[in-house]
Amino acid sequence: MRELDEVERVGVVGAGTMGNGIAQVAAAAGYDVVMRDIETEFVEKGLDAIDDSLSRFVRKEEMTEAEKADALDRIAGTTDLADLGDCDLVVEAAVEKMDIKRDIFADLDEVTDEDVVLATNTSTLSITTIAAATERPDLVVGLHFMNPVPVMKGVEVVTGEHTSDGATELAHGFSEALGKETWESDDKPGFVTNRILMPWINEGVRAFDEGVAAKEDIDRGMTLGTNVPMGPLELADHIGLDICLDASETLHEELGDRYKPAYLLRRKVDAGDLGKKTGRGFYEYE
Ligand code: 3HC
Repeated sequence: MRELDEVERVGVVGAGTMGNGIAQVAAAAGYDVVMRDIETEFVEKGLDAIDDSLSRFVRKEEMTEAEKADALDRIAGTTDLADLGDCDLVVEAAVEKMDIKRDIFADLDEVTDEDVVLATNTSTLSITTIAAATERPDLVVGLHFMNPVPVMKGVEVVTGEHTSDGATELAHGFSEALGKETWESDDKPGFVTNRILMPWINEGVRAFDEGVAAKEDIDRGMTLGTNVPMGPLELADHIGLDICLDASETLHEELGDRYKPAYLLRRKVDAGDLGKKTGRGFYEYE
């Protein structure tokens, strides 16, 4: 297995919110990064988001302009998965669809060296099922970053049925090299975080829909009352209502009715109100 101290070049599949965040923190930690998405436009948007995010650290004097420029220089964008062929570690952060992830992992299995660990940022899908698309299920591990990646301190390491101790240790070590702290979960639906977070969000949506309180009061109640940074409705908007619905549907399918997505969550997604990214979710955004 390619060990952590041999990792110099990191491949990231997906240049969306999570992918560009992972590429950013890896580059800022000194790794060379190849970030791949299916369209040049997505890659460019990802690079712009990284530029914006790094600028925030420069404004706060937590990073110099030169460090920002170095980090950006270390990131190469591509639309060709074969460009990840010389990476020493790959983190996949594509859409949360099992068929797509399995296709990507089958392709990564072909293009990368056979001793390279392949990690997935999946939030709820089975690591074991993704790993089974490869000839190296022992080297497939979950590396679940939190949004926004450059700010959130935690990473969830998830072990599939065949994940080796070596790959698990590498996942912890790599996260720590990025300045993160980790915890570990078995490959059970939603792992630790989303198994507990998604019912909390859905209950917030139901409480609003059933008229328990105004949305602002639900969010204030939970932030002031339990000392979390965001209440369930603002957090849902932050994550993306479509992502919350997808995760809730997977949990519902796997764990039964106690995970049924809230009616209003589905209706908002059907209406195209996906939260901050579309300018409207439970709240409105500039
Ligand atoms: N890049 C760089 N810096 C960023 C940033 C980004 N993308 N987003 C926010 N920041 C920085 C800001 O510059 C600011 O820095 P400062 O405090 O030093 O000035 C700080 O983060 C706080 O940002 P804001 O002042 O804009 O706003 P808030 O104080 O409301 O913080 C937040 C925003 C960090 C998102 C905070 O509200 C928070 O922690 N919310 C909870 C987020 C959370 O729970 N995420 C996990 C979701 S679950 C998940 O991701 C799993 C998935 O599978 C669903």
